Amino acid sequence: MEKVLVTGGLGFIGSHTTVELLEIGNDVVIVDNLSNSRMEVLHGIEKITNKTPDFVNADVTDSKQSKEIFEKHKIDSIIHFAASKAVGESVKQPLLYYRNNLTSLINLLELSREFKVRKFVFSSSCTVYGEPDQLPVSEQTPVKKAESPYGNTKQIGEEIIADFARSNPDMKAVSLRYFNPIGAHDSSLIGELPLGVPANLVPFITQTASGLRESLSVWGGDYDTPDGTCIRDYIHVVDLAKAHIKSLDYCDRMSDSYDFFNVGTGSGSSVLEVIRSFEKVSGMKLNYKIADRRSGDVEKTYADTSKANEVLEWKAERDLDDMMRTAWKWQQSLRS
Ligand code: NAD
Ligand code: WQD
Repeated sequence: MEKVLVTGGLGFIGSHTTVELLEIGNDVVIVDNLSNSRMEVLHGIEKITNKTPDFVNADVTDSKQSKEIFEKHKIDSIIHFAASKAVGESVKQPLLYYRNNLTSLINLLELSREFKVRKFVFSSSCTVYGEPDQLPVSEQTPVKKAESPYGNTKQIGEEIIADFARSNPDMKAVSLRYFNPIGAHDSSLIGELPLGVPANLVPFITQTASGLRESLSVWGGDYDTPDGTCIRDYIHVVDLAKAHIKSLDYCDRMSDSYDFFNVGTGSGSSVLEVIRSFEKVSGMKLNYKIADRRSGDVEKTYADTSKANEVLEWKAERDLDDMMRTAWKWQQSLRS
């Protein structure tokens, strides 16, 4: 077993991955500056696993604060989640995004070299593909010019890691291109905690159902899709968390210095299908209306996951109803 530094480990995907890491016996050090998370998440992780990961409240763009973590702990592997992730905000404040997402990455890679970290797993995104010319999207699908500074930080981030890993014989690195992660842990002790009005579909649905929002706007009903609404590849966050464990295992057997994978279920769902699934598992009617398109939205995208299935030996197991059921249970737990 190894000691894994999880940056952004109190966030949505980082907290679920920390649970999976602890449950198979790894030591975990979480670093998070709480810019988009809360300390209660740590208590949720502790309750689920009966274990207490080390927690450092620090900013990984600060090289001095970050170095102290490596001086104190012998880190074998890093899973780097910490980043700013709001696409719209990144258009308004690009430098904030380049600074937070790229300075943090460069710091961590420099420290990896200095402290001989062997494995590095990076949170990338399906956003690197933009509006794909063919579906499903495989890893051979060309990466298009990024449509937002946020997306650009993921493209540049992947390139930095690939170059660095090539130059550093001590390290193996993997980027995971997540499609749309949703859902929550079965315990309802951890889940997604959007601050303010959610931009993403599923938290908006569950907040509308719980009465926090009046009505959901479905952005566009006239797309070239079977029901006119956009199609995405939604993936359960626990399935996604497990892909990180498989990536650490893969680093031990990979021959190249760097590799990258799509992480999705391999099938697409429309916005209306997501709403129907929510209504089915909750037994409620959702208040929604079809509205104008949201600018910048991709019409349809879903992953070809065969590379991850075969090479990472990982496959998504949970279906859309399961995702919506756990997302709804989590939302209800926040109200009690
Ligand atoms: P999140 O905001 O819930 O988690 C990120 C965590 O990082 C937060 O707890 C935040 O406080 C922390 N953080 C941010 N900047 C930091 C810094 N400089 N120093 C220390 N901590 C910092 O986001 P998430 O949904 O869990 O996403 C995790 C990663 O996955 C991000 O890199 C994101 O870009 C990527 N990603 C997310 C999605 C998605 O839809 N959620 C999709 C594709 C890729
Ligand atoms: C999903 C679908 C909306 C809200 C974003 C980022 C992407 C990646 C994942 C990080 C779309 C529709 C949404 C609403 C709606 N993140 N929708 N009403 O846009 O696929 O991807 O998160 O890397 O980079 O762009 O996710 O959840 O915002 O939208 O109709 O109130 O739901 O139009 O079709 P998206 P989303």
